Amino acid sequence: MTAGFTQILLSIALISGLVYYVTNRCGSGDEKKQTRPNFIIILADDIGWGDLGINLPGRTSHTPNLDLMAQQGIRFTDFHSPASTCSPSRAAILTGRHGLRTGVTHNFAVGSIGGLPLNESTLAEVLQGAGYYTAMVGKWHLGHYGPYHPSHRGFDYYLGIPYSNDMGCTDAPGFDFPLCPPCSSGIAVYREKRGCYSKVALPLFENLTIIEQPLDLWTLAEMYTTTAVRILHRSRQRGQPFLLYVALSHMHVPLSPALHTEGDAHSVYHSSLREMDAVVGAIKNASDEINKENTLIWFTGDNGPWNQKCQFAGNVGPFLGRWQTNRGGASAKTTTWEGGQRVPTVAYWPGKIAANMTSKALLSGLDIFPTVLSLAEVEAPSNRRYDGIDATDTLLHGSETGRKSVLHPNSGAAGQFGDLQAVRLGQYKAFYVTGAAEACGGGRGRQELHDPPLIFDLSQDEGEGSPLDSSTAEYQSALEQIEQEREAVMKDIASDHVSHADYSVDPSAVPCCNSSHINCRCRTRTRQSSSTLSSKHPAT
Ligand SMILES: *[C@@H]1O[C@H](CO)[C@@H](O)[C@H](O)[C@H]1NC(C)=O
Ligand SMILES: *[C@@H]1O[C@H](CO)[C@@H](O)[C@H](O)[C@H]1NC(C)=O
Ligand SMILES: *[C@@H]1O[C@H](CO)[C@@H](O)[C@H](O)[C@H]1NC(C)=O
Ligand SMILES: *[C@@H]1O[C@H](CO)[C@@H](O)[C@H](O)[C@H]1NC(C)=O
Ligand SMILES: *[C@@H]1O[C@H](CO)[C@@H](O)[C@H](O)[C@H]1NC(C)=O
Repeated sequence: MTAGFTQILLSIALISGLVYYVTNRCGSGDEKKQTRPNFIIILADDIGWGDLGINLPGRTSHTPNLDLMAQQGIRFTDFHSPASTCSPSRAAILTGRHGLRTGVTHNFAVGSIGGLPLNESTLAEVLQGAGYYTAMVGKWHLGHYGPYHPSHRGFDYYLGIPYSNDMGCTDAPGFDFPLCPPCSSGIAVYREKRGCYSKVALPLFENLTIIEQPLDLWTLAEMYTTTAVRILHRSRQRGQPFLLYVALSHMHVPLSPALHTEGDAHSVYHSSLREMDAVVGAIKNASDEINKENTLIWFTGDNGPWNQKCQFAGNVGPFLGRWQTNRGGASAKTTTWEGGQRVPTVAYWPGKIAANMTSKALLSGLDIFPTVLSLAEVEAPSNRRYDGIDATDTLLHGSETGRKSVLHPNSGAAGQFGDLQAVRLGQYKAFYVTGAAEACGGGRGRQELHDPPLIFDLSQDEGEGSPLDSSTAEYQSALEQIEQEREAVMKDIASDHVSHADYSVDPSAVPCCNSSHINCRCRTRTRQSSSTLSSKHPAT
């Protein structure tokens, strides 16, 4: 290369740099649009309240990045996922509505032909309609077939898995209890024996295309990080405000931490927790680099730990649900006990959210939808009602008011899916029905109906050990208010636009990149370029 040519190249580089600078500093002209806030919502899977180091001070911490984020922002100690399993919780977070309204009351399957009903509006759809760039990285689990796929539900870009990371075999299975076999090794036998879902390999989608099947779980954290950081870095060039929804597979089994000392089963969970925390840290760092003052990061969980997975399940902290565990079974994921839906939650927005705040306000994942829309100054569709509240004052101005109540739907522990079986009002929590999840080792409690309901005073008894004596004035007064609240909510739902989700399954809905292979396997893409596979194997 001659010196002259190099000089020409240098000048071109300088000029394009200048053009870039001018375009981005003063070129767009739409100052108002530029200042609308960005949102990063990070959802961990099956995480326990006690998994967040700063929630249990003095014990070992495996979440230094999240702890720091809490010290630089706000930590919520009484924040609840809207349901205690994946699909209903995610549907409620993305719509601000209970499962009884959206129709999403339990999990979708690998062969589900339906998903979150199409006339329910997702946060992404509403923000996209208002000019936001919307991207999602991670687990969807709200239907993947046809129009239910995230690419059709408001996300400009999608990279992730369509459902849980245990809903498909992989070549190197992660840590699960019981152990699951790799793809294509006596699958049918194993499936019946062990309860592993092994018929179809776990797919990874980019937009509508399956780019890897089976997915390599062990590199998923790295891929999600790279992708999320790339989306953030490109946000400046796009010049649009953005929503980035990161739905991590951590801490759902199978656990597959890239950095882990072999042979140390008890540290697997902690290695995964550290990995999860590092993903959050990397996203926060990238966001800080780009537009710290204008970006809200909101971290929360979809439901409590999956106790049945023993040493691979998270920590509920003090929320032990002892009334239930004394009678058998577990009291976290799928149940309405605190361990099932009280989730670690941190929000961070330098300059807007004061640093090092701890809030006891009663809040729910249902509140994310109205709060984000309020901050973006975007109207939610008005032809339906919402269960979420606008929590802006709690987030930004230290208000401790929060919600009046939280109604907890049955997510599988007892009775009808979606039924609002437990009601939280102030410090009191009433159970009309109790039920347990399967415990480590297999114990299951029985379903019990309670008339009058069991009422616990969480301010005295966060472990839900001993209900109030129903003959006391305290009980009677709490009951009266709780009944009023429950009736009001049920009446509101009965007169609302209520949607119906299709839970039927069909083999044609199973995501499969290569139907001539027994597990639906196709050649692994080269990580950065997926163009060959994209054109050859359109997703079903
Ligand atoms: C994903 O879809 C978006 C929107 O249609 C498009 O801009 C982007 O190039 C797609 N990405 C890939 C890798 O296909
Ligand atoms: C984020 O940045 C902080 C401070 O600059 C650094 O200490 C930390 O290691 C970074 N975390 C990650 C996960 O990159
Ligand atoms: C944050 O608050 C806690 C408790 O209020 C206090 O002990 C700690 O020193 C504070 N940390 C910082 C970094 O201000
Ligand atoms: C969605 O459509 C169904 C069927 O027409 C209707 O019953 C339901 O109320 C609609 N939901 C909303 C939120 O409009
Ligand atoms: C699809 O599966 C068949 C049968 O196992 C295999 O021969 C073929 O190479 C696979 N196609 C791709 C693109 O991986």
